[in-house]
Parts: sequence; C-alpha cells; structure tokens
Amino acid sequence: MGLANKKGMIMSARQVGFTSLDEATVEDFAIMHPLMAAEHAGLADRVLKYLELLKGADLGLRVDRYVHSLQTATRAHADGADEETVVVALVHDIGDLLAPDNHGAFASEILRPFVSDQNYFVARHHPLFQGYFYFDKVGKDRDARERFRGNPAFQATADFCEKWDCPAFDPQYESMPISAFEPMVQRLFARTPREFD
Ligand SMILES: [Fe+2]
Ligand SMILES: [Fe+2]
Repeated sequence: MGLANKKGMIMSARQVGFTSLDEATVEDFAIMHPLMAAEHAGLADRVLKYLELLKGADLGLRVDRYVHSLQTATRAHADGADEETVVVALVHDIGDLLAPDNHGAFASEILRPFVSDQNYFVARHHPLFQGYFYFDKVGKDRDARERFRGNPAFQATADFCEKWDCPAFDPQYESMPISAFEPMVQRLFARTPREFD
C-alpha cells in the first residue's frame, strides 16, 4: 500500500514492472489503482491549498482575490444557495493565476465531474457574464453574454454574477471563515466523479 510522505505525496512500497504502458498487466493496475485512489482522496485538500495562493495580490482592488472568493461564497450561502453552488462560488476564480485568460474554463473543469451541468456552465462562463457589469468601461461589449441567451443555465449564471460575484469586492463585508466552507469542499470532491474523456 502507499504511504503519504511529508508533502502528502503517495509513495508506493511496490512498483509496476512495465516501462511502456501498453505492456502493463492486470497486476500492475492492482498496484496502481489503490495509490491513485488515495491521491484522488486528497483532491479537496489540494483545491483548498491552491485557493490560498489567491491571498495577497490585490491588483489595486480593495480586497484580494482570496477575500473576494470567500465573499462570493458567503453571499451565495446567505442567499440560501445549495452547498454545491456555494462551493462553485468559493472556487470560481481559482484559475486566476494559472489561466488568467480562461480562468472560467480552469475552474469549471476542476468542478465538472462533481457538479451539475448548470453549475459547470456557471463556472465556465462567469467571466463573460461578469462582463455585463463592466465590459463597457474597457471597450468591450457588455452584452456579449447574449450569445448564450436561451441556454438553460443563462439565468443562473447571470444571477451568480449579479448577486454574488459582482458585489464581492467590498472590504466592509464580513465573510464566513474558510473553516466554514472546508467541510462543504470535502463533501463535494468526495462525490463519485462523473467520467469525461
Ligand atoms: Fe472570475
Ligand atoms: Fe470572481
């Protein structure tokens, strides 16, 4: 079985025999699968850890993106959003550092196996829908979201931005602590994932 080392990495006591995947045996997969499952079980922890990388840089905003994330999630929670949606709100900007030009796609793909098609769409397209509230100030079309009009997730995405994401730049707003969201994140990523190729 595997052991987690100090960095939380799953280290194996046994290794496979193959050096090319097409030579792998059933026994090889019997070695790997429990280790992969153990690593998968750490997904929520890794998401929470990565979220912390949003601390610090404020880009001139009055809150940093970590506070913005907590505030978006708190606003969703306060409005009675279901737990899945609250977690989407918490992690919707988690891709800001690694995928600044397509951060909605980044977050949505992390969430996708564990959330509804609607919440996948919300995470995926929130940057464009958020644009409704400011694109006209930066020379872009604030109605760009209209190309998704008619999509069943259109209104949920518009509401997500209007009620929770857009106003979540307020330094006076009192957010729930991350500890309040941690069990929600753990429960979401403990769901049986849907499979995608
Ligand atoms: Fe965003
Ligand atoms: Fe945001």
